[in-house]
Amino acid sequence: MIDTDVVIIGAGAAGLMCAATAGYRGKSVTVLDMGKKPGRKILISGGGRCNFTNENATPENYLCQNPHFIKSALSRYSAQDFIDLVERHGVDFHHKTLGQLFCDNSAQDIVDVLMTECDWAGVKIALRNEVLSVQKNDTGFLVTTNEQQYQCQSLVVASGGLTMPKLGATPIGYKIAEQFDINVLPTLAALVPFTLHPHDKERFEGLSGISIPTEVTSEDNTQFKENILFTHRGLSGPAILQISSFWRAGQSISINLLPDTPIEKLIDHWREHHPKKSLKNLLSTVLPKSFIEAMVSQQEITDKVINQLSNAEIAQLSEYLHHWKINPNGTEGYRTAEVTLGGVDTNELSSKTFESKKIAHLYFIGEVIDVTGWLGGYNFQACWSQGVACGQTV
Ligand code: FDA
Repeated sequence: MIDTDVVIIGAGAAGLMCAATAGYRGKSVTVLDMGKKPGRKILISGGGRCNFTNENATPENYLCQNPHFIKSALSRYSAQDFIDLVERHGVDFHHKTLGQLFCDNSAQDIVDVLMTECDWAGVKIALRNEVLSVQKNDTGFLVTTNEQQYQCQSLVVASGGLTMPKLGATPIGYKIAEQFDINVLPTLAALVPFTLHPHDKERFEGLSGISIPTEVTSEDNTQFKENILFTHRGLSGPAILQISSFWRAGQSISINLLPDTPIEKLIDHWREHHPKKSLKNLLSTVLPKSFIEAMVSQQEITDKVINQLSNAEIAQLSEYLHHWKINPNGTEGYRTAEVTLGGVDTNELSSKTFESKKIAHLYFIGEVIDVTGWLGGYNFQACWSQGVACGQTV
């Protein structure tokens, strides 16, 4: 049996950040992970370049039953604090759209930063150690893995959510919470592509790979102005991933295909300058041609010479293009989702330390808890902020 001050379950973003922070305070820290290498999700994130934070991260960018919960951690360790850290390590990065920061070279740079920090802080990382059970005893917790037993005073559960089972996602964090009578909110795959009903799938079959800048609205009136992407399974792209976190089974989404220009205005212009041209050809100048052709051939849009359109037809076209309704069949689920919505109820945790209110010295951080960021670096920022807050106390 190995004795250590702190055991952290999960060598992901939250666990490694917490480990380094606690290690610098002189704590002996062991991080357990069932994987062969640390930070596996970091490595595949952001298309291999890791969107490691978002300069504009605020509590409003997170979904949580308690919207105030993330405030304290985010304000104590901000996006700028993490940017300072990667700069100290000489990582080259660039700004993309909407405040998103990506590595220039590879996501490995971020894992290297965290592993170097853990090394400097004297943290031990025990890989290929799957946590099988946790028991509370007089001196803290006894953690049993397939390899070893660890006795610790403090236990941090940073075991992630259910997304990407291929990368070692397990429900161990939820099980530990339930074992100690800590409430776990229902979980759902989020930041995930939609699948379509067979009828729609057939309609959009030929459009796979086409991307359109849009504004997508959910039934609860949340809006994202980003691209949608037709795939061979359904709909994806940043706007769809974003809205998936707000969509529930059976609901529809509304897509504004021309978010920057009312179609009425375009028609006025076309009538004046191209009165003899067809609606189909003119629409193909502002939307992808194959999309318009598909909509015309499916009689969703009626093609006519532009100056022959009646007011009623223009109103109908406007409704169609600005409020295009789609009823997703479902989502692709945890297999391709980026995050898990729900999880350990934050009302059970201190927002300052992430310690359980019921069980002293038991902590939950990262994706396992009910804090889910938007797409765009917000989820990693939550992990850094929570890891630091917890590591300062544990
Ligand atoms: P994480 O899942 O990273 O780590 C948990 C660890 O616990 C894993 O290593 C797992 O092996 C281990 N574990 C689980 N059960 C165990 C057990 N029983 N015993 C031992 N170990 C166990 N976010 C963002 O901000 N920017 C981005 O660019 C992206 N991109 C992105 C792409 C893709 C494809 C995905 C799937 C996700 C993203 N994300 C993202 C989301 C981001 O990856 C996610 O929010 C964080 O990785 C969560 O970090 P955690 O440390 O909480 O869990």
